[in-house]
Amino acid sequence: MLLVKDLHSYYGRAHILHGVSLEASGGEVVALLGRNGAGKSTVMKTIMGLVPAAAGEVNFDGRRIERLPPYRIARLGLGYVPEDRRVFTELTVMENLAVGLQPPRKGAPAWTADKLFALFPNLAGMRERPGGRMSGGEQQMLTIARTLMGNPRCVLLDEPSEGLAPIIVEQMAHSILALKGEGLCVLLSEQNLHFSQAVADRAYIIEKGQIRFGGSMAELASDASLREQYLSV
Ligand SMILES: Nc1ncnc2c1ncn2[C@@H]1O[C@H](COP(=O)(O)OP(=O)(O)O)[C@@H](O)[C@H]1O
Ligand SMILES: [Mg+2]
Repeated sequence: MLLVKDLHSYYGRAHILHGVSLEASGGEVVALLGRNGAGKSTVMKTIMGLVPAAAGEVNFDGRRIERLPPYRIARLGLGYVPEDRRVFTELTVMENLAVGLQPPRKGAPAWTADKLFALFPNLAGMRERPGGRMSGGEQQMLTIARTLMGNPRCVLLDEPSEGLAPIIVEQMAHSILALKGEGLCVLLSEQNLHFSQAVADRAYIIEKGQIRFGGSMAELASDASLREQYLSV
């Protein structure tokens, strides 16, 4: 569903992504692993058109999207949750969800607020609560739920477990597996190998804007030197 080929991007004159290639299919969770500063967020921003692709391809559903503006990419059904989870603090949970609403999409689950509350039970009891009066974990869930209101076929989640309490991390893992069960393609970035092992089918490791490994979670689990070299221990 998502196919990235030889992607390059820059911040000003700084060459950040050096030929990144990866793919993710529907019903699959793929982890993009790497240390802080490795280029994970830049991969997601470049896929979303928020950072221009200097070279390379992004194919989504067989369509080239690397020259499209971000809002058009989102409307094609590619959802994105950035690492700085931004809820509308003055709006209630229900209002935040309404902001993300888009028409149903062929080949994607059609989310309603009630279906999302089943996915994120923590949010169900706080429908009228302003976003600004929620914990970090609740805000993270709300941001993902708001993105799902757009009925995406694929979601990019930038460090979804970061800064969350262990119990919330566990719930987040459940929710991500439920998305996979709905047939979505999920690409998530992580420094947390443990969390990735709980949810992902495959992983890529990125370092200095280059993919250093691509393979199954089992392969990664059996290769200690790979983990030591590229991932925080
Ligand atoms: N807005 C920016 N301007 C300039 N350099 C940036 C910017 N954002 C990130 N970088 C640099 O790009 C590299 C990759 O960053 P990033 O994609 O955020 O890494 P990660 O998400 O893996 O922590 C880092 O060296 C970082 O300092
Ligand atoms: Mg990042």
